[in-house]
Amino acid sequence: MSAPSPALPPVRTAVIGLGWAARSIWLPRLLRSPAFTVTAAVDPDERGRAAVAGPQGADATGLSVLAAVADLDPAEVDLAVVAVPNHLHCAVACELLTKGIPVFLEKPVCLTSEEAERLAAAERAGGAVLLAGSAARYRADVRGLYRVAERLGEVRHVELAWVRARGVPDRGGWFTQRSLAGGGALVDLGWHLLDIAVPLLGTAAFRHAIGTVSADFITQASSRAAWRDDDNDAEGDDNDAGSGGDAAGGGGTDVEDTARGFLVTDDGRSVVLHAGWASHEAVDTTRVTVDGSAGSATLRCTFGFSPNRLGRSALTRTADGTTRELAVPTERVGAEYDRQLALLPDLLHDPAARGRAIDEARRTIGAIERVYTSARTVQEVRESAPV
Ligand SMILES: NC(=O)c1ccc[n+]([C@@H]2O[C@H](COP(=O)([O-])OP(=O)(O)OC[C@H]3O[C@@H](n4cnc5c(N)ncnc54)[C@H](O)[C@@H]3O)[C@@H](O)[C@H]2O)c1
Repeated sequence: MSAPSPALPPVRTAVIGLGWAARSIWLPRLLRSPAFTVTAAVDPDERGRAAVAGPQGADATGLSVLAAVADLDPAEVDLAVVAVPNHLHCAVACELLTKGIPVFLEKPVCLTSEEAERLAAAERAGGAVLLAGSAARYRADVRGLYRVAERLGEVRHVELAWVRARGVPDRGGWFTQRSLAGGGALVDLGWHLLDIAVPLLGTAAFRHAIGTVSADFITQASSRAAWRDDDNDAEGDDNDAGSGGDAAGGGGTDVEDTARGFLVTDDGRSVVLHAGWASHEAVDTTRVTVDGSAGSATLRCTFGFSPNRLGRSALTRTADGTTRELAVPTERVGAEYDRQLALLPDLLHDPAARGRAIDEARRTIGAIERVYTSARTVQEVRESAPV
């Protein structure tokens, strides 16, 4: 991890939400990095606080462990890293931004276009920058794909797929309830996929967005994300027959495990999107193909932390009937999070960073909303059809 720019003192950082993402991704990296000093940790749930607190609510380094964002002193915080359940992203980030505290907000940044506007207003009102947490762009193999894509001529089409063999997060908890998560695999994995597409496609608006969702795997106990220590799984029995295609099926779960979308940008490029928390596959696989006027390129790898992953990333370029494999640097699982974190201190001081996260989030959530609307319209037609 890189050291802070010489002129910058360590960023005094508060971590908000002390669940899996904070404890597995952010806190260990923040505590290791000389560019940050973790000064506070906030969680209303005693279990979250207990996981990071020492005696008297403070650990050996003097970290304040608090129950509410309202207890933070804005004068003592340079950055809040927010990793709360999705439905609280907007409210918690708005509260912090309005107080003038810069926010690094986990994906999905927002769950509706209306939330995107509230975040934009809070960023303006507080004069503090909103930064967005979706790290896959910082993977070495994705960067390799970006470099190859520069030599493919005009990008015409991008296929984005992240399909896990098994990997439903926190089944029965907030991740699988629409009112708390905003959706299933689309808003969770699809957010990352749309994020990595920005450098490939540019920022033209999506003119069309349609899609389908299904939930054939979500109630199967074997579909859960084994790398998480979630304890909400009691309600779902293994269901070898599957739950049918109705996302409203299993008790406590009403989101999709699989989403497929087709998007077209205003400048005439198309995107196929496939996000799956579980599938018929054996290995969790991410596959990105870029079709250009002068050739195509495909990256096969595994995003995220699943141990059920491809042995290595493979990047190929195809032109004139020949497919060549290109070298991809190997790196530790999670290296992209180190790289993203290392950029934050400078971004806090970069006036050009203001408004950028929300511009991208507006476009991403707009596409996601429209894919969901399209999928629900078809479900409603199916349900109202005479039997
Ligand atoms: N970037 C990634 O790769 C990645 C990976 C996993 C999760 N995430 C994201 O991180 C976020 C958290 O996910 P998770 O898996 O850690 O969930 P989690 O349920 O394990 O943890 C969420 C924590 O937030 C706490 N919380 C609830 N309300 C709060 C509030 N008002 N203030 C402070 N804390 C509050 C909860 O008590 C809990 O401890 C989600 O948005 C998720 O999408 C991102």
